[in-house]
Amino acid sequence: MDKHQDDSKINLEYDIIRNDFKRAGEASSDIKSILKKIGIDSKVVRKVAIVTYEAEMNIVIHSYGGNIKVTIKSNNIIIEAYDRGPGIENIPLAMKEGYSTATNEVRELGFGAGMGLPNINKCADDFKIKSTPEGTRLLITINF
Ligand SMILES: Nc1ncnc2c1ncn2[C@@H]1O[C@H](COP(=O)(O)OP(=O)(O)O)[C@@H](O)[C@H]1O
Ligand SMILES: [Mg+2]
Repeated sequence: MDKHQDDSKINLEYDIIRNDFKRAGEASSDIKSILKKIGIDSKVVRKVAIVTYEAEMNIVIHSYGGNIKVTIKSNNIIIEAYDRGPGIENIPLAMKEGYSTATNEVRELGFGAGMGLPNINKCADDFKIKSTPEGTRLLITINF
């Protein structure tokens, strides 16, 4: 086998646009339907759907824009979410249930419950988050 080849089977990638509430949720719903179609266990599909939806909404609402990548491997699914800033100042605070900096305008649209990052953490078998003013990066692994 080619030495550069790993066990990745399918790669999905989506650009996420800031403040685009019309298309918000499309990436995660596309990911969910692809996972269902290829026969991924429904419990795993549910976790990936929650993680990608929350990561997508956070990029739309809180960032300057970014992207989400999903890699489906033989034993797990890797989700990477990147954005171009402005970053999260206090990660432990942002991880707390109910903490949100969402504006009133965004809250009126039904977002800003402050449960996104805690829910990502609950669904993940492994969760890494790094943030600087240049951007935030989430790396989530969900095992089969
Ligand atoms: N990608 C991001 N870029 C900048 N800040 C973020 C990002 N994701 C989350 N945050 C910060 O962390 C807080 C908590 O996020 P979350 O738990 O998803 O709650 P919510 O999105 O409802 O505010 C947000 O209110 C925001 O301040
Ligand atoms: Mg959120």
